[in-house]
Amino acid sequence: MPWIQLRLSADEETAEKYSDWLMACGAQAVTFIDAKDTPIYEPLPGDEVVYWSNTVVMGLYDASSDMDKAIAYLQSIHPDKQAMRYKLEQLEDKDWEREWMDNFHPMKFGQRLWICPSWRDVPEPDAINVMLDPGLAFGTGTHPTTALCLTWLDGLDLTDKTVVDFGCGSGILSLAALKLGAKKVVGIDIDPQALQASRENAKRNNVEDRLELYLPEDQPHFKADVVVANILAGPLRELAPTIIEFVGDKGLLALSGVLEEQAQELQQIYGQWCEMDPVAVQEEWVRLSGRRK
Ligand SMILES: C[S@@+](CC[C@H](N)C(=O)[O-])C[C@H]1O[C@@H](n2cnc3c(N)ncnc32)[C@H](O)[C@@H]1O
Repeated sequence: MPWIQLRLSADEETAEKYSDWLMACGAQAVTFIDAKDTPIYEPLPGDEVVYWSNTVVMGLYDASSDMDKAIAYLQSIHPDKQAMRYKLEQLEDKDWEREWMDNFHPMKFGQRLWICPSWRDVPEPDAINVMLDPGLAFGTGTHPTTALCLTWLDGLDLTDKTVVDFGCGSGILSLAALKLGAKKVVGIDIDPQALQASRENAKRNNVEDRLELYLPEDQPHFKADVVVANILAGPLRELAPTIIEFVGDKGLLALSGVLEEQAQELQQIYGQWCEMDPVAVQEEWVRLSGRRK
């Protein structure tokens, strides 16, 4: 698949913020380079990231993305629209998802859960291990929005529970829920490649008989014990009535993909239906959670 790369000039102060902005307007991946073209890959939790004074933040978009809309969004939130320096490039088709494979290592979330790249050895064979190859879909556990959901799932007793994973991506949250004891998970995503990656990862973990996958237009109507949605603030706002319909009486809900400044509005929206918990924060991202009233 061909890709479009959007390059934004930044420095050590703005690099992290620009990365979040690029993700918020649809980038599938973000990389940082300095003037010498040395990449920084997404760090492991706990690693310190050092940015250069002349950093370029690069967002990768699939070729069908509406880049005029993405740039208009960036200009609308940039404090000095005129000073925003960017460049768009068409990239040749390449095995992009393999580029970061060498940098993806097993990671632990909460007390019990490990996400392990399917091509690496498992560090704790007796732990709850999810073997994962995200392919072209979002969801490795390295991004704070995913990590916040994995930690939340690890803290629940999911034994025999039904779960909805709205925006399932690679299937990482669905598989974590199944491995943590859920009876059944329904994964929903607008991207057929995400459903394909989820299906393959389910087979890899021998849980395919307990995972149902749907495009939104085919999604079933039922009440689940637990609903998790990591899909950015805009869709969480617009899809609130749809998402809440899945949450059964006293059911649990977690929402992720939300920047700190977007949290209050979503707390209010979902507070109509749920008793909301205090938010959990990782870097600039927050996770909202609550229990249906
Ligand atoms: C940030 S990724 C999350 C993937 C994975 N659940 C995780 O936590 O890492 C968001 C996913 O939501 C999907 N998505 C975006 N908008 C959606 C919508 N309106 N309905 C269903 N899925 C959507 C995207 O295709 C993408 O796979």
